[in-house]
Amino acid sequence: MKKLLALSLALVLCLAVFAGCGAKDDNTLTMATNAEFPPYEFMEDGKIVGIDAEIAQAIADKLGKELVIENVDFDSLIPGVQTNKYDFVMAGMTVTDERKEQVDFTQTYATGVQVIIVKEGSAITSADDLFADGANNKIGVQLATTGDLYCTWDIEDEGLGTVERYNKGADAVMALNSGKVDCVVIDNEPAKVFVQNNPGLKILDTEYITEDYAAAVSKDSPELLADIDKALGELIADGTVKNIIEKYIPAE
Ligand code: ARG
Repeated sequence: MKKLLALSLALVLCLAVFAGCGAKDDNTLTMATNAEFPPYEFMEDGKIVGIDAEIAQAIADKLGKELVIENVDFDSLIPGVQTNKYDFVMAGMTVTDERKEQVDFTQTYATGVQVIIVKEGSAITSADDLFADGANNKIGVQLATTGDLYCTWDIEDEGLGTVERYNKGADAVMALNSGKVDCVVIDNEPAKVFVQNNPGLKILDTEYITEDYAAAVSKDSPELLADIDKALGELIADGTVKNIIEKYIPAE
């Protein structure tokens, strides 16, 4: 009798644990990012922080979900969401026509500008110098970003230089510091942080291209897309997104 009681008790306990697990799994929302992109996402005291991390948290809160953030290479974000490894991506990711064929995007929540970082005194003084007849520069970019795509099309494919692709924006900036590349093309906000941390570098006044950032969701999850988009829309409308952005990028 005692044995039976113990057994059924154990069974109930097992079931409870399983139910608990199931419920928890159902209730998580996994956001993938590449925490090499301050102030949108970066590591601080071993934690992923930044604008995207905070907006994602606010979205999860609205949806009553527990947010999990995965930090992966930038070029595995889209494949990961396509195979439903992650629920969504927030990574200062630019909406482009090519990407729209691979994933669905929410409304945009921020803009970015591709800028050019050079060493002080560089022969490159404007964006035009990169496209000039006979130009032959080495351009550092983060692999698979729009900076990579545009420089590949506009410069490398045109025979006007070569593109050096790095896993992290900061590595491209290190290559610039050590003279391995002549400039770095990257989004303006991380560019400001990198230049601040590296004396002797500057951002050129001429901008390359302006773009919109949005969250990306698998094409198989129209409901999740609608939920995230609605939550994001509310957070934009009530000023939450603006406040988060201004916390990290104080208005000049
Ligand atoms: N906006 C650029 C793009 O979409 C760069 C984004 C890089 N983001 C990052 N978390 N590393 O390609």
